[in-house]
Amino acid sequence: MRIFDSHAHLDSKRFDEDREQLLIDLPTLGVTGVMNASVNVENAKQVLALCEKTAYLYAAVGIYPHETHLAKAGDIKELEKLASHSKAVAIGEIGLDYYWDESPKEVQQKWFVDQLRLAKRLGMPVNIHCRDAHGDMVTTLKAEQDGRLTGVLHSFSGSVEVMQEYLKLGFYISLPGTVTFKNAKKLKEVAVKVPLDRLLVETDAPYQTPEPFRGKRNDPSKVRFIIQEIARLRGMDPVEIGRITDENARRIYGIEEE
Ligand code: NI
Repeated sequence: MRIFDSHAHLDSKRFDEDREQLLIDLPTLGVTGVMNASVNVENAKQVLALCEKTAYLYAAVGIYPHETHLAKAGDIKELEKLASHSKAVAIGEIGLDYYWDESPKEVQQKWFVDQLRLAKRLGMPVNIHCRDAHGDMVTTLKAEQDGRLTGVLHSFSGSVEVMQEYLKLGFYISLPGTVTFKNAKKLKEVAVKVPLDRLLVETDAPYQTPEPFRGKRNDPSKVRFIIQEIARLRGMDPVEIGRITDENARRIYGIEEE
């Protein structure tokens, strides 16, 4: 089975002890690519350094909603420089998070829009984090969509109706491990209704671990369980879902087959 993890954080401290071995092992477990998101400028530099050492690892560079209150005036210029790195394939993760509310809404909104405009200027896709903010998110994306905006709703958690709004705006939907949880009724419905050419899968590792490893550390090889659940729900072959999601990830992030 081909596995492209469309969003992970392999730079996380929780991989410090065995990261090197894990990065060697992942291709033997079917992993063909991983998009590693970053949360601020300093982190983006670390992520790019990690990508330089690992052929199948790619980066998104960006400022995460919770980090926006710490962002500095020159950060967009910095991101623009980092985005020109050959391993940088997206601007992310960027977005709105009203659940934790660590940064004031206006601050989140300002940095989100600035980074959307950076992505448009550079002709790059965005990797979007959205929690409890779908109303403002759809409004903002509609206002900024001028034909140049494209990207992924990472770890999608909305309803089928909300998904339709993002699809109309040209976005891809990336499903996380929570789709394997018994009580994830809404997400299972999304997994059945999302058009196959807009579907991505992800770990958000080390977080959001799928069943049967719920509660343990997540890693890209566990995307297998997400793919299997989506295939079961749709009555399809998991190998086919793996192939399609790998292809979709390469299309949206502009990554050629090695
Ligand atoms: Ni993330």
